[in-house]
Amino acid sequence: MIWAFVDDYINKKLIPSDSTLEQVQESNKQAGLPNINVSSTHGKLLYLLAKLKGAKNILEIGTLGGYSSIWMARALSETGKVYTLEFNPDFAKIAEQNIHLAGYQDKVEVIVGKALDTLPILEEKELSFDLIFIDADKVNYPHYLKWSLKLANPGAVIIADNVVRDGNILDVKSNDVHTEGLQQFMDLLVNNPAIDSTAIQTVGIKGYDGFMIGIVK
Ligand code: SAH
Ligand code: DHB
Ligand code: MG
Repeated sequence: MIWAFVDDYINKKLIPSDSTLEQVQESNKQAGLPNINVSSTHGKLLYLLAKLKGAKNILEIGTLGGYSSIWMARALSETGKVYTLEFNPDFAKIAEQNIHLAGYQDKVEVIVGKALDTLPILEEKELSFDLIFIDADKVNYPHYLKWSLKLANPGAVIIADNVVRDGNILDVKSNDVHTEGLQQFMDLLVNNPAIDSTAIQTVGIKGYDGFMIGIVK
């Protein structure tokens, strides 16, 4: 597919080969993790957005092997931290190893458990965030949006992956709880006074999808 070739081209031009991230991808593969991490171009976009925002605390919902966590950790200032939530303890273990390999063991905290059980812990700790990346189970995206709005600082950036899914977002009777979750998520954004948002369709090595990006008011 031409999209994948163009992603290769962009990678060669703008995202110089990087042994750490290559090793992370290799260890994810060896561990048999599903190949659903963000692409390198999207990882770099997360990094650029975190830099643009000057983000101190970052929240990620859905760690997998920590690939996107490491991209975002690279954008942190001296004092910042990435808190990343992962349900699967085996994935979390691989993520910890990868984060260590990348040298971010003091900058990235993997919190194991269902995000809906661990988000209240962040609230209890009175943590708040400048950038939030939602990328876990799509069925819970509506809950993740509500939690994100609760935990976001004013002016925070919220990004949500996979809101297009090959255009499935338009399916009226999808019979898929994940698509329905994404549709409810989009509906929550309609005229929402708490967030100003758009969604961008994307093509590339990961096929046809898209992400929502918004700023908390
Ligand atoms: N952000 C990662 C990819 C995340 S894939 C990257 O780009 O590198 C989605 C992850 O969400 C999977 O690892 C999955 O185990 C996790 N997940 C699914 N349901 C979850 C839940 N209820 N709570 C926390 N994590 C969950
Ligand atoms: C899936 C999840 C993702 O976050 C993604 O980017 C691609 C696919 C999935 O669960 O199939
Ligand atoms: Mg995703």
